Amino acid sequence: MSTPRIPFNRTSLVGNELRYITEALEAGHISGDGRFTKKCHELLEKELGAAKVLLTTSCTHALEMAALLLDIQDGDEVIVPSFTFVSTVNAFVLRGARPRFCDSRADTLNLDELKIESLITARTRAIVPVHYAGVGCEMDRILAIANRFGIAVVEDNAHGLYGKFKGKYLGTFGSLATQSFHETKNFSCGEGGALLINDIRHFERAEILREKGTNRSRFFRGEVDKYTWVDLGSSFLPSDILAAFLYAQLEHREEIQSRRRRIWEYYNVNLAGWAKHHGARLPIVPECCEQSYHMFYLLLPSFEVREGLIAHLGARNILSVFHYLPLHMSEMGRRWGGEKSDCPVAAKVSDRLLRLPFYNDLTESDQDRVVSAVLDFTA
Ligand SMILES: Cc1ncc(COP(=O)(O)O)c(C=O)c1O
Repeated sequence: MSTPRIPFNRTSLVGNELRYITEALEAGHISGDGRFTKKCHELLEKELGAAKVLLTTSCTHALEMAALLLDIQDGDEVIVPSFTFVSTVNAFVLRGARPRFCDSRADTLNLDELKIESLITARTRAIVPVHYAGVGCEMDRILAIANRFGIAVVEDNAHGLYGKFKGKYLGTFGSLATQSFHETKNFSCGEGGALLINDIRHFERAEILREKGTNRSRFFRGEVDKYTWVDLGSSFLPSDILAAFLYAQLEHREEIQSRRRRIWEYYNVNLAGWAKHHGARLPIVPECCEQSYHMFYLLLPSFEVREGLIAHLGARNILSVFHYLPLHMSEMGRRWGGEKSDCPVAAKVSDRLLRLPFYNDLTESDQDRVVSAVLDFTA
């Protein structure tokens, strides 16, 4: 009999997901903004302290809403990390913006705040920090730069729900922030996201953009007697079936986060000696950050060692994966003038990073199998 496969990621039920989906069906409201969507909004607003939260169909769509809300126009510039998912950048490029790729810090792999200022021009409209692996960017410095130049900050917090920087929740620093509830995230509903609105001046328009450019939300609240087309927009609101699933997950946030913390610490403790011996390094979490325990990665000494370890784990039926390919070197990035030498840290890290299996119901025995397999690997 072959050894059972350990996937990289897997979604699991933690509580009332199926019951709440049934309740949404029985209530006869499975389109957007039903009872469970409102419950998710209230829970996140109350807990995080964001002025308003709106669930969206994905983090990608929340980012697209942010670009619309900031009224990004042709020829505007946005400062984005190169080491990120394509949506961080695409959302702004879709509005005609030119991306200015910023390199990463060598420790947290986050946007290097010391390199931001040299990228600012008269056309810069936004800085988009990504809290990689749910470890906070240097938000004090990023906000100070943004305020000095009058530039907006949009946090892409796809990985970082419930992480903190200096005691404050990630996603509550920028005027806008985005979350992902894709199946790979700590809390999921398959595909989903949220826009966190910290600057309340964006709220009224955000509701309109999310409802196809209409004032339908105001109509449902009885504030206008009919609804009509008032602005740009699209269909950015998820079905209440997805919100029902997500709400059940959010109800178990403490349990989910403490399970993930145990998994992360187990890898960290048990792989430290091996990493030191093999010239690899484990994630670095600065003292001022409480991470969200989203992922566990190894930074290996070279591309060849990384590929060797992926194959070694694969032969033991364990799936490990690389992560972002630097956007400044992608086909699209090169069209915007990206050169390999622009972001050397991002280029180097991308070749050497490997993510280990990490999901809410990863069992101790499966995690032991992963750890033992890594310890058996000699480059
Ligand atoms: C940093 C970052 N931003 C945005 C996204 C897009 O999230 P979604 O799949 O919810 O659109 C991802 C996806 O994993 C991501 O890693």
